[in-house]
Amino acid sequence: MSNIAQSSLITARNQNEYIELAQFYDLLMEAGYYDYQAFVNSLALLLETRTKILDVGVGTGLLTEQMLQVQDYEITGVDFSEEMLVKARRRLSDYNVKLLNLDIRDYPENESFQSIISSGGAICISHQDNQQYRLYSYCDDKLDHLSLLRKLYNLLEDDGLLIISIQGEHKNYSKAISEDITYSQEINYSGDYMTKWYTFSNEEKILSRQSVKLVVFDEIEMINSFTEVGFKSLGVDTSNKFYVFQR
Ligand SMILES: C[S@@+](CC[C@H](N)C(=O)[O-])C[C@H]1O[C@@H](n2cnc3c(N)ncnc32)[C@H](O)[C@@H]1O
Repeated sequence: MSNIAQSSLITARNQNEYIELAQFYDLLMEAGYYDYQAFVNSLALLLETRTKILDVGVGTGLLTEQMLQVQDYEITGVDFSEEMLVKARRRLSDYNVKLLNLDIRDYPENESFQSIISSGGAICISHQDNQQYRLYSYCDDKLDHLSLLRKLYNLLEDDGLLIISIQGEHKNYSKAISEDITYSQEINYSGDYMTKWYTFSNEEKILSRQSVKLVVFDEIEMINSFTEVGFKSLGVDTSNKFYVFQR
């Protein structure tokens, strides 16, 4: 396919789908971007007896796999990036898990879950300078984010938990993720948005490059957005890995 044809194909899709990123995603994560094993231990403590779970932005299934290795969770994983789901389906083929290619904003509200998890998924939280929490939402704007939260609220059972992973500060850096591949990320803030560029390269050339554009909320706005749709904020868990809200 010519470059022009390829780029018009990409613009026709959601700008935040993981297309170029998908082929290097696991390599980056396994180089230490997220500590999935630690996530699983903290999640087990938070979830207690809750086993019916919706993972919003399941990606390549790295967290789901680790969760299913320790407990018989009933997991539905949703993602709007087919390139990521291809990998998740392969990884999770031996497990009883439901994987759906869907924008979570379009999820039909005819079932409910005991917990919803977003591990760097459709919504994520960062801890800036160890002081301020910030929320990043893969939404078009702040109003769209509120509709996304309403959707998640409606998909939870009463007392159900919305569990969102906490990442370090988004900042510019570059690091080797394998013998010959370097990962670089570049962050730009403008108005309500953060644009994050992911670049994978070897010594000779750029192998893959893509950006995502997320709506950003400071800590007060973040908590207000959840309470506005009816959630109660339970705050940060004891491991400092998750921010928890309850229906
Ligand atoms: C950083 S990845 C996280 C993947 C996975 N949760 C993990 O821990 O490795 C974010 C994922 O969220 C998906 N995503 C973002 N917004 C979404 C939405 N509105 N509906 C479905 N998937 C979404 C992206 O396609 C991407 O695969």
